Amino acid sequence: MRFPGHDPHHREDIVIGPLDLPSRVDEALAVQAVAFGLGADEIAVRRQIVLRHMTYPGARALGATTPDGRLVGFVYGMPNDRTHWWSTIVEPYLRAQGLDDWLDNSFVITELHVHPRYQNRGIGRALITAITDTADEPRSILSAIDTDSPARGLYHSLGYVDLARQVLFPSAPKPYAVMGAPLPLRRRG
Ligand SMILES: CC(C)(COP(=O)(O)OP(=O)(O)OC[C@H]1O[C@@H](n2cnc3c(N)ncnc32)[C@H](O)[C@@H]1OP(=O)(O)O)[C@@H](O)C(=O)NCCC(=O)NCCS
Repeated sequence: MRFPGHDPHHREDIVIGPLDLPSRVDEALAVQAVAFGLGADEIAVRRQIVLRHMTYPGARALGATTPDGRLVGFVYGMPNDRTHWWSTIVEPYLRAQGLDDWLDNSFVITELHVHPRYQNRGIGRALITAITDTADEPRSILSAIDTDSPARGLYHSLGYVDLARQVLFPSAPKPYAVMGAPLPLRRRG
């Protein structure tokens, strides 16, 4: 999949494809640090978490790379497992809405980030659509900071709906929304 750059003076083809995340974790976290805002201490913590996540059954990643091989975006996820930390945090919020069956037979999007210089070109949409297209599960879930962000706008346009709001993760300063969508994700138009 190729995405011509929008800048006519600097056209560049971005390729979406499988990403060996454990071996490129530092590049991925550098993208996440500038896209999402992570400090050095948080990067070190995330590094261990990402490496552990990639050992989970069915965990996989896709990257968006420039012709010269620079990583400018990535997504990763896995089949949800109710024993995973994320799932144990969101479960009571979903159960309170009678929606915790979304935790079964669901592909969870754990991270999605695009470098700010490459945002708004369809790369985020392509990454999340492509990875969920590889899922055997009939639906997908994720969490996003509970605000009107580009991320939430993108997820809504792909068919994700709010399953729970104001979800608090230990140590995260801002509340999150948990969102779910049927697969395959909705296409544009
Ligand atoms: C979320 C993110 C990955 C999207 O990547 P992207 O490549 O810019 O996304 P796309 O170009 O594919 O899609 C942009 C979509 O975002 C939405 N969007 C963009 N700006 C928006 C805004 N200001 N308000 C609401 N929605 C907006 C639109 O739905 C847009 O779709 P469109 O193609 O119909 O215009 C990127 O913004 C990002 O990395 N953000 C910071 C990190 C982050 O928040 N990650 C998600 C954590 S849950």
